[in-house]
Amino acid sequence: MKNILIVGGAGYVGGAITDLIQQANYNVRVYDALLYEDSFRKPVDFVYGDIREYEKLKAQLKWADAVVWLAAIVGDEACQLNPELTKSINQDSVGWLADNYNGRIVFMSTCSVYGAQNSELNETSPTNPLSLYAETKLNAEKLLKHKNSIIFRLGTLFGVGDLYSRIRLDLVVNILTVRAFVEGRISVYGGDQFRPLLHVKDVARAVLMNLESENNGTFNLARQNVRISDLAYQVRMHFPDLKIETTNRTFQDTRNYRVSSKKAEDIFGFKSIHSIDEGIEELKHLVETRRIKDLKSPRYSNQAYLKEHYEELMFKVFKEVEVA
Ligand SMILES: NC(=O)c1ccc[n+]([C@@H]2O[C@H](COP(=O)([O-])OP(=O)(O)OC[C@H]3O[C@@H](n4cnc5c(N)ncnc54)[C@H](O)[C@@H]3O)[C@@H](O)[C@H]2O)c1
Repeated sequence: MKNILIVGGAGYVGGAITDLIQQANYNVRVYDALLYEDSFRKPVDFVYGDIREYEKLKAQLKWADAVVWLAAIVGDEACQLNPELTKSINQDSVGWLADNYNGRIVFMSTCSVYGAQNSELNETSPTNPLSLYAETKLNAEKLLKHKNSIIFRLGTLFGVGDLYSRIRLDLVVNILTVRAFVEGRISVYGGDQFRPLLHVKDVARAVLMNLESENNGTFNLARQNVRISDLAYQVRMHFPDLKIETTNRTFQDTRNYRVSSKKAEDIFGFKSIHSIDEGIEELKHLVETRRIKDLKSPRYSNQAYLKEHYEELMFKVFKEVEVA
């Protein structure tokens, strides 16, 4: 196996995966519609395209021995902006992939498929998607069931994945760190809810370990389950003057779950090596050294960016696909 197509590889997770796979001497090609980027400057083969431009994508699939499928509308609020569009990207395109590709597939799903549940969850636990995002990801998983595919249900990611790709500041560790720096205070709503967390570079390691493995099926991937209130105090270890406000207001995001990654540990020896403290330090370094000019720019939040550029995306980028 040599040729790896990374679909949606220009995004946050794609940056880390692309680098690691390339370092491992595979031929890497990224296929992406650059929803959030003005350019793709990483020195890697690149094909611009929407995943619903099936003929264009088919030609790339012919080249690929394995496909890492990352392209999606990512996040609960971003998915709500246009439910039909979300379904066609997150779900229907995966159905098309299942029908048109017989090579190895590495697919990213999310632990959000578990919704709110009290016990520690493994891959046989019942699912309970509370958002369109989680629902479309769960449906996509089902479409890949009989393929040569491995599906990772990722916890909420954090940290810096590579030197080029857009950082996401709509993810809990990243956002709390930036707020700690900018505002000197963070508000935690409720704070009792658990979230499984994982460094973005650890995802890349799991992908590399499984490009050529025979492991199929669903695997949870997280480093640890953390209470949001505890996370706030962990951020304060890096910003000693930080003020933490806890309010009892019901947190809008009803997700609350803890997951076990034991299956990944037992079957392919997965162990995360990048800590939450490391992620916080990476974000702290980014902001302290002023490498992000405008931290308030919508570019760093999927929902904010898609909302601000909605017309342009709908009537230029996506319209092209419908016409094609
Ligand atoms: N970041 C997280 O915390 C997290 C957690 C769980 C699961 N995931 C999953 O990991 C994957 C990658 O997430 P991310 O954080 O990198 O998101 P991202 O939004 O940064 O990247 C998604 C990429 O897909 C591309 N894309 C979207 N729609 C497309 C289309 N129609 N055609 C072509 N390209 C398209 C975008 O341009 C972007 O480069 C997603 O499938 C997501 O569901 C991420």
